Amino acid sequence: MDIFDAVSSRYSCRAFLPKPVPEAVMREIVERAARAPSAGNMQPWRVHAVAGKRVEELKALLRPRMATELPKGEGVEYVIYPQPMVEPYKARSFNVGEQLYQSINVPREDKAARYKQYARNYEFFGAPAALFFVREKAHGPAQWADIGGYLQTVAILARGYGLHTCPQQAWVSFHRTVRDFLELPDHLMVYSGMAVGYEDPQAPINGWRSPREPLEAFATFSGFES
Ligand SMILES: Cc1cc2nc3c(=O)[nH]c(=O)nc-3n(C[C@H](O)[C@H](O)[C@H](O)COP(=O)(O)O)c2cc1C
Repeated sequence: MDIFDAVSSRYSCRAFLPKPVPEAVMREIVERAARAPSAGNMQPWRVHAVAGKRVEELKALLRPRMATELPKGEGVEYVIYPQPMVEPYKARSFNVGEQLYQSINVPREDKAARYKQYARNYEFFGAPAALFFVREKAHGPAQWADIGGYLQTVAILARGYGLHTCPQQAWVSFHRTVRDFLELPDHLMVYSGMAVGYEDPQAPINGWRSPREPLEAFATFSGFES
């Protein structure tokens, strides 16, 4: 797969086959992704990779809590969305949610069905493996951004191994449980989870793609010779 296909075929996959991800493959992805750039070459990312039994253990901790604790969970360890969310970002976020729920025929009013789908986050959407991207609490915006670049590099490399991914900030809502599960010391915190596995190509939730703004909406160019 070339780099263009890897980038264009990446999407947030929300239904996976139970086929295991070999440890050797996960190790290669995590290692190679560290070629991502970082300010001062700080390499501020930390990664916890889990699979198989460990994934099942974490799912089992949360399963009985889904009915009563969603959507708030344990409260977030950091605020994900700007408050208030203003245009044009508000509409983009709203629309992608609508597309997602339409793909599985869940109407806006059906809160119970929406929560049920949202709860699939805490099953890693059926993925047999997952990553947690962890940061130093003392680090600032530049290091957050570097970890974002690392996360994206993981997602692109995963395509090279025939894998798909879904980044999952949803795990931030259960940060206490995840902290205990990963035995994170106080100076670290989870930035995002990520489901990793082989996509279920039949699943309707995988059958749509999020839109993007046209180039002119977010970029300007000057000084180029045509
Ligand atoms: C850091 C990060 C966290 C995300 N967290 C979640 C999540 O918890 N659950 C989910 O279903 N999607 C999550 N997403 C996926 C976004 O909704 C998705 O990237 C966006 O709608 C664009 O769609 P695409 O990834 O399919 O291109 C996350 C994406 C990023 C970058």
